[in-house]
Amino acid sequence: MNLEIEPVHVGEEEDIDIGSVENFEHEEIDYAIFRLESGFFATQGHCYCEDQTFLSEASVEGEELECASCGNTFSIVSGDPVSDLELPPLKTYDIYEEDGNIYLNL
Ligand code: FES
Repeated sequence: MNLEIEPVHVGEEEDIDIGSVENFEHEEIDYAIFRLESGFFATQGHCYCEDQTFLSEASVEGEELECASCGNTFSIVSGDPVSDLELPPLKTYDIYEEDGNIYLNL
């Protein structure tokens, strides 16, 4: 069995503006890809709530995202909830840029 992590090519660095978020689908799973001043970050593509809101529709404020449906905020860097500490943290993924390309380690 091969347990090596295969980087998945997400796109090019210039495809996403600083301070914004895009959805990326891979093998029928959505991921939210964020580009901040401090670099690229990735979280699960949907929140945990009933309507599974796309996190790519969230607004980005510094290093936090604000859910487009309920307004709750989370850290984009750690996935931790900010506005409601009772909420579960968002899953985060290892993401990096190399030679102008963005890769996710899944
Ligand atoms: S509706 Fe789920 S975090 Fe906002």
